[in-house]
Amino acid sequence: MRSLVIYYSKSGNTGIVADTIKKSINAHVKEITDYTFNRTVADYLFTSLIDSASIEPRKVDIEYYETIFIGTPVWFGSITPAIKKIIDNTDFKNKNIILFNTYKKVGEDLAIKRMARLVKKHNGKIVGAFSISSRGTIEDLEECTIEALKGLNIT
Ligand SMILES: Cc1cc2nc3c(=O)[nH]c(=O)nc-3n(C[C@H](O)[C@H](O)[C@H](O)COP(=O)(O)O)c2cc1C
Repeated sequence: MRSLVIYYSKSGNTGIVADTIKKSINAHVKEITDYTFNRTVADYLFTSLIDSASIEPRKVDIEYYETIFIGTPVWFGSITPAIKKIIDNTDFKNKNIILFNTYKKVGEDLAIKRMARLVKKHNGKIVGAFSISSRGTIEDLEECTIEALKGLNIT
């Protein structure tokens, strides 16, 4: 299975999940960087609706891949501006998509739903999704990710 992990991570947790997916299933990884530092309250509260990200790379070439993982931290029960932007910039036609997020306490399911809606708008076929709590240690993050991958029946 040719897999790519596209993710954004501000403080590293989602990056650890992405790295664990990479190691577990030999996926390629593309990190999205967001160079926006000044955001309004509305930008934060309506992240899946408002475009407030300046990202690098702006587009990712997904042609080679069969399965695309897309990962984001949960921000106020939603996705991050960077991940909204990269989804908006991509056509996922004929690709299997697996969504994931990391979160502290609440909003992870809603964030997955919002990401799913956006990905479907861009022709992606969602075949799986998982959320990883980032309250524990790095090892906890890695273990939970491996368990989540087993649940997807792809390892
Ligand atoms: C602006 C902001 C908003 C957040 N909103 C939520 C939230 O609604 N629910 C939650 O459980 N965690 C929330 N968190 C915590 C992050 O989702 C969590 O720490 C995540 O693992 C961070 O991922 P990262 O290290 O990849 O950036 C928020 C963090 C930030 C910085």
